Amino acid sequence: MNDVHASPTGPDNGLVASLRASAPYVHAHRGRTFVIHLPGEAAASTRFADLIYDIALLHSLGVKIVLVFGARPQIDAAMRVANIQPRFVDGVRVTDADALACVRQAVGSLQMSIEAHLSTSLASTPMGGARIATASGNLVTARPVGVTAGVDHGHTGEVRRIDTASLVAHLARGHIVLLSCIGYSPSGEIFNLVAEDVAAATATALAADKFVLLHPGEAVHTRLGGAAPGLSVEAAKALLAAPDHGFSAPEKARLVAAIAACQAGVERSHLVSFDTDGALLRELYSRDGIGTMVAADSYDVLRTAAPEDLGGVLALIEPLVAQGLLVARSREAVELDIDRYVVMARDGLITACCALMPYADEAIGELACVAVHPDYRGGNRGAELLADVERRAREQGLTRLFVLTTKAPHWFVEHGFIAASIEALPLAKRALYNYQRNSAVLIKSLEPT
Ligand SMILES: CC(C)(COP(=O)(O)OP(=O)(O)OC[C@H]1O[C@@H](n2cnc3c(N)ncnc32)[C@H](O)[C@@H]1OP(=O)(O)O)[C@@H](O)C(=O)NCCC(=O)NCCS
Repeated sequence: MNDVHASPTGPDNGLVASLRASAPYVHAHRGRTFVIHLPGEAAASTRFADLIYDIALLHSLGVKIVLVFGARPQIDAAMRVANIQPRFVDGVRVTDADALACVRQAVGSLQMSIEAHLSTSLASTPMGGARIATASGNLVTARPVGVTAGVDHGHTGEVRRIDTASLVAHLARGHIVLLSCIGYSPSGEIFNLVAEDVAAATATALAADKFVLLHPGEAVHTRLGGAAPGLSVEAAKALLAAPDHGFSAPEKARLVAAIAACQAGVERSHLVSFDTDGALLRELYSRDGIGTMVAADSYDVLRTAAPEDLGGVLALIEPLVAQGLLVARSREAVELDIDRYVVMARDGLITACCALMPYADEAIGELACVAVHPDYRGGNRGAELLADVERRAREQGLTRLFVLTTKAPHWFVEHGFIAASIEALPLAKRALYNYQRNSAVLIKSLEPT
């Protein structure tokens, strides 16, 4: 008989804990519209079937999905077979009549392959019981690129219009919409488009809640030398503008698309490596995404504080100290610990901060100086800051966090902390406890990821 009381870390191999941990994301994403760009490289990889199954799972979890697939390697392969030399200008394929025949063949074949995978419903597969309807068609209107730099691009086109009304209707009927790099002109011609551009235009036209671009290899921010996983549009543009950026044409196309969508109103674009198993699910349904995010400029950048942030941090906390909400800290103390502070910055203004003081011997950390600028409260910044510090604490091997607060115990309780006694504090902190201030002690256990 099954042990119905099995603990989440017991014989169920963490299933219960994982499902529970992902529940807030399931609620948050249900009914939302995600545009996902699937490059041809993904279709050629060994992860293809799993990726499609994960996309089907997103659909089953109530996400409205538009899947825009590219077919660069498949088109290249078809051209090799036909003995046609591919021609690119600035990373964009020049599509003459012979090349267009290869595009039609490669894209059509790939579309059938994706549809076949989405039609799977064998009980022995992750698609068991799934009944997924796909929709596609002449939803993208194109115009020719024409002659640029003296080169006639032939049937290479640009997105002119997305048929938003039809897309919305298909999504409302529960269909996964499949779009390719093919567009049609009002004159009845077929054009080969940059699939990333189609995806960005679709995300923009639908005002998508998320725009996800899958890519091969390691995460973009890791490749950039461990930069923060969140990039502002300005930072992403600066990367592209650097003369030695080293991005390949597809990498550049993805970043350009991510930026374009954010500039046109999509709040966040996610660049996620399909080489990581379950990457899509981990990015969208776990606390710590694994991809690189490009966010509209209004987004606060969350990062470790730098020495130049000292003034901003002090300007934020001093009024709160004066109100008795935070413990007083000297300028020198903050300066000394500045790299233990995490800040949120928007256009140079520090909108929130928090410090993580580790007591490594007892595997516990203090969450200190949690503060959100009064003008920016209620925007989930406190919660985002807390989630980030929890991730950092786990990375440092800490298993618990504590906080001392006089005015915000309920906020912390609502974020998983529970009231504790002074004895629960690490020894060194206990010795310094200010009985006059009489702060509440709250502790949170950090679940392993
Ligand atoms: C507590 C604090 C960090 C929350 O920041 P925030 O960005 O506004 O938080 P979020 O947007 O994630 O959460 C907002 C929710 O928390 C609630 N909340 C804010 N402060 C609260 C408090 N002191 N007690 C209970 N709930 C509180 C808000 O009412 C809101 O709830 P609602 O959406 O149901 O109305 C911020 O109010 C602050 O800086 N306070 C002053 C400093 C402080 O007391 N720090 C803690 C001591 S270390």
